[in-house]
Amino acid sequence: MAGAWYRRKHAVLLWILLCSGLAEALEPISTTIAAGIAVTGCYASYKKINCYFRECCQPDWISFNQIGLWVDLERRLFGQHLASRIILKAVNRFMNNDNPKKPLVLSLHGPAGTGKNFVSKMIAENIYKEGMDSKFVHFFIATHHFQHVSQIKTYKTQLKQWIKGNVSNCERSMFIFDEMDKMPPGLIDSIKPYLDYHHNVDGVSYRKAIFVFLSNAGGQRIVQTALEFWKAGRNREEIELRDLENTLSLSVFNDKSTGLWHSSLIDGYLVDFFVPFFPLEHKHVVQCALAEMEARGIKPDRSIADQVAKDFMDFPKSEKIFSGKAARQ
Ligand SMILES: *[C@@H]1O[C@H](CO)[C@@H](O)[C@H](O)[C@H]1NC(C)=O
Repeated sequence: MAGAWYRRKHAVLLWILLCSGLAEALEPISTTIAAGIAVTGCYASYKKINCYFRECCQPDWISFNQIGLWVDLERRLFGQHLASRIILKAVNRFMNNDNPKKPLVLSLHGPAGTGKNFVSKMIAENIYKEGMDSKFVHFFIATHHFQHVSQIKTYKTQLKQWIKGNVSNCERSMFIFDEMDKMPPGLIDSIKPYLDYHHNVDGVSYRKAIFVFLSNAGGQRIVQTALEFWKAGRNREEIELRDLENTLSLSVFNDKSTGLWHSSLIDGYLVDFFVPFFPLEHKHVVQCALAEMEARGIKPDRSIADQVAKDFMDFPKSEKIFSGKAARQ
């Protein structure tokens, strides 16, 4: 806070200095004209200087780092070949399109601790200079922001207002909804018009916004598929999206316990991509532990990583092939 204030103070001082100088230089022409020029010119320059120090909805602060996202997905995410591929393709295509027909809507599914939050953060970090701290990135947790089912009416109005207000301020806004499973049913349907193929809604265009929904819906289906492949001695990298996609959207659709239940988002094909996250196997947790040691400046030690991974393997109860807690960021 103090840093930001200090920088702003400097921006203002710099501006006064520049602008008073400009007014003085122009004085011989005519005081009124000079003042006019100085004020317009300086307002523009003030805005510029201000955006130099403070986050603005401009390319200096918001620009997509395609290589950065690729590197992050490649080096920091383990055991998620499908998620990694889909996310990269989806975000690349959307961010490189100057005129998208609808906002990007991603629905990330999988058990807790498989990297859904982590990946949302990676997306934000490679678009917004300030990452998750950006004022254009909005993070909602169902159990925190929309806790009481009885207040659904208020939530609906509020959520619509927030999204509208924020997108009006900056069309490149990102909204992440965590714990969609615990969202009061029907709430997310209230923002449906914003996710659709509309040129604009009440004068606001949502086509450059990004919506990410995180949930455990369909998680059982994902675990089951991973388990089937494992039992058949097949590599999980062989799992293709088509092995999952239909059953995934169907199980999400029919799962009464989720906020997406019979939601018109799925019904109306407003979700662009369903992204599955698999539970981690031993080797993934080892990779994860080694990467973490390196990131913390500790010499990567394979036997420690191995031991850590062993402790993490906790389900299914009989086989203990997967980790339920690793990769929880
Ligand atoms: C933007 O969203 C936040 C919630 O993340 C909300 O508190 C704020 O009021 C919204 N801004 C506008 C202008 O609606």
